[in-house]
Amino acid sequence: MSRKALIAANWKMYKTPAEALAFVDAFLPLVTGHTRDEIALFPSPVLLPTVIPACKGSNIAVGAQNIHFAEEGAYTGETSIGQLKALGGTHVLIGHSERRQYFCETDEIVNKKLHAALKAGLIPVVCIGEVLQEREAGKTSDVLKTQVTGAFAGITPEAAEPIVIAYEPVWAIGTGKTATPEIAEDAHRTIRAEVAKLLGANVASSMRILYGGSVKPDNVTALMAQEDIDGALVGGASLKPESFSAIAKY
Ligand code: 13P
Repeated sequence: MSRKALIAANWKMYKTPAEALAFVDAFLPLVTGHTRDEIALFPSPVLLPTVIPACKGSNIAVGAQNIHFAEEGAYTGETSIGQLKALGGTHVLIGHSERRQYFCETDEIVNKKLHAALKAGLIPVVCIGEVLQEREAGKTSDVLKTQVTGAFAGITPEAAEPIVIAYEPVWAIGTGKTATPEIAEDAHRTIRAEVAKLLGANVASSMRILYGGSVKPDNVTALMAQEDIDGALVGGASLKPESFSAIAKY
């Protein structure tokens, strides 16, 4: 089963609208005609009205870093799926470890957001990954299985087709310590096996599982060479057009 890789930029809380526009202006010519992989940008919500029109008609998709699961309501500071879609956003990150760590997102919240995103026809990128303490205690597999099971509660095989998973070991995020290709592949295999258990072998073999955590132009090729690594979710190295385009062209 061949899976089209997704190379995604998580800009986190960086860039002004002017900086975001300058990125897109410089980035698009660097990846013109690149159809081997899907490429997506995930800017802050206030940048979406700038970045989405700037990418319109190109091969670059744009999504949000987070959404609320409710359609609308009194949720100060949150962004609804309807708001994202009205701007033309197509993708959304769900359950990034920084959301889990700093904003108390649980597997239950991740699950609610996943249901809402799928219902609205968005492409959800569900983020999972163990912290260093869990890895050192030999609990990585258990943590990943729990996160997948929690995120996918009540999701049917038919509904699961658009889902993308991003495996981001928390100890590798922003630390410069990438998981070795072997460590990452091992985790990806565990995740795919768990998806197969929950949703069947067909869904599991077509589901894209991205790796994230200190992905750089000089380590992406070895990561992408692994059988179960179907793309990258890139933080720091996605902020510059040159390094993100080099990653997309691994
Ligand atoms: P870094 O690439 O900066 O380690 O960030 C990874 C990440 O969190 C992407 O979502």
